[in-house]
Amino acid sequence: MLSNVEAAFKGLLTCLQAYKMYGLRHPMFTRSLDSAHASFEDVLAERQEMVIGIVGEDLAFEKEIFFDLSKFLRPAILYLKERNIERFAFLHGLSKDELGIFIEFIARPKEDFKGDIQEMLNLAGIEHINIGKLKVADGKDKAGSGPDQRGLYDSSADKINQALSGVLNFEKIDHLTLKLSMSNIMESLSTKRQELLKLATLKRYDMETYIHMLNVSILSMYFSSRLGFDKSDVLNIGVAAMFHDIGKLFISRKLLHKPDKLTDQEFGRIRSHTIMGAEIMLKYVDTLGILPVVVSFEHHLKYNSSGYPRMPLLRKQHLASLIVSICDVYDALSQRRGYKQDYSPDVVYNIMNKEKGTSFDQELLDKFFRFMGLWPVGSIVALNDGSIALVKDENESDIRRPKLEIISPVDKKRSVDLAQDNSLSIEHYLNPWKEGKEYLRLV
Ligand SMILES: [Fe+2]
Ligand SMILES: [Fe+2]
Repeated sequence: MLSNVEAAFKGLLTCLQAYKMYGLRHPMFTRSLDSAHASFEDVLAERQEMVIGIVGEDLAFEKEIFFDLSKFLRPAILYLKERNIERFAFLHGLSKDELGIFIEFIARPKEDFKGDIQEMLNLAGIEHINIGKLKVADGKDKAGSGPDQRGLYDSSADKINQALSGVLNFEKIDHLTLKLSMSNIMESLSTKRQELLKLATLKRYDMETYIHMLNVSILSMYFSSRLGFDKSDVLNIGVAAMFHDIGKLFISRKLLHKPDKLTDQEFGRIRSHTIMGAEIMLKYVDTLGILPVVVSFEHHLKYNSSGYPRMPLLRKQHLASLIVSICDVYDALSQRRGYKQDYSPDVVYNIMNKEKGTSFDQELLDKFFRFMGLWPVGSIVALNDGSIALVKDENESDIRRPKLEIISPVDKKRSVDLAQDNSLSIEHYLNPWKEGKEYLRLV
């Protein structure tokens, strides 16, 4: 199926090229149109529609993003994006004539694609092709200015939330939109890393389980990309992380947040979120792959397999689960929780380091803190000279001495790199929910 979809899309682009070079009546064009139409017929013989999306700068079809193919087709992808075309739906019944008219249509100069392009297509008599933008609001994306990061985080969180509630209701989910939202976040991690990590740090404070899952997903994508995984693996790990606690959403909030000691039975119920989550994600294997099942099941298993679910045979965690479990514990410990004191980043660091070799893979944990720094980007910290600063970026050479922006007192505002300036050091962390609250407006 996938190779047919690839062939159909390549056929479409070959036709476009032939049209531009030789025109409508040339045999080169008719031949390429014949072959492209035959490829579309192959795909549409088995299904009602074939939807292709442009995700970032890559092509996507259902659960697959064609990273390799996209590299070759990048000029064509940019060409389509310039015409505001990010989504194609080819419907069963597509005729060769319609495909020919469609090629003529997309060959037009980009200035022609200003209005409602679907309406233009309908006017041209094309009934079996829908085109347009992917239905994802990526923030306040004004022409040329790039998406606003807060808008991007919120709208991506929104789309991801929709996918999560879809899964909760056992509905079909719009996985292409989900992957686009995840990919939006992933793309931004390479260019706007500080901005996004800052949001992930700050956003913890209006937490819900899904914000936890979104945070764990962002952290897992950042971590795995820094570990050197390729784009498609990073995205798959991000999706798996997104659903790691999906089983928890079936457990009552009351039980999850119970302040008193839990009974054995209640513990058992909470622990069952791993198995429940895996069962839910099994229903989505054909669109999201097997990794969400594996990660849901294993994320509390621990590196030395002493966690849960208990296994009759010793089973080592999948690498994706090792990555997600580090990010999971890190986010959970950093979160403000009603039933326990939240920990400052240095305390989180110490707690997690005590579990090296037992809960966590030693090498992975060292790398995690090297990439994240001890004081994560977005933390508000008090310095030894009494000023207050925001952590802007980590220093891999010394995780305790990041790059800062002094935010208070206002007349001292400046950037400082603690790796260069030995006179300053971090005294302690300010909780943005409590003593750090008054500085949030300066961030
Ligand atoms: Fe969990
Ligand atoms: Fe979790």
